[in-house]
Amino acid sequence: MKRVITYGTYDLLHYGHINLLKRARELGDYLIVALSTDEFNWKEKNKKCYFTYEQRKQMLEAIRYVDLVIPEENWEQKKTDVHKYEADVFVIGNDWEGKFDFLKDEGVEVVYLPRTPGISSSQIKGDIGANK
Ligand code: CTP
Repeated sequence: MKRVITYGTYDLLHYGHINLLKRARELGDYLIVALSTDEFNWKEKNKKCYFTYEQRKQMLEAIRYVDLVIPEENWEQKKTDVHKYEADVFVIGNDWEGKFDFLKDEGVEVVYLPRTPGISSSQIKGDIGANK
């Protein structure tokens, strides 16, 4: 069984997220999503989530492409997660192109998928005035 792992915030779930998750799952047989916690988002990514971690997790778990959701609590955990969850492939959108190539040293394939144009959580927040 080929196991794939990906990371992200997935706030205000949108079709760009679904496209990413679908293509990620197609790279293997089992997809793990490491979901950024509220604290990690706020302290490290400077992002305030509209939905809580539990709400975002519940929505991800309802998606057919997602097999397991785990918390992402820090930048360093990727190196250990890939072993802990026996991942064969690490995948993320190409806004992160080149940033996680160091995971190749851990024996995993690293894939950057093209982002879906014209949509992002921050864009939705701006459009609906959720940042104000
Ligand atoms: N993603 C994508 N296409 C988009 C938006 C996101 O492929 N249009 C991917 C990202 O590259 C990442 C995953 O979806 O692999 C989760 O991204 P996340 O940062 O949670 O979503 P964004 O919409 O980019 O959020 P923000 O605007 O807050 O950065």
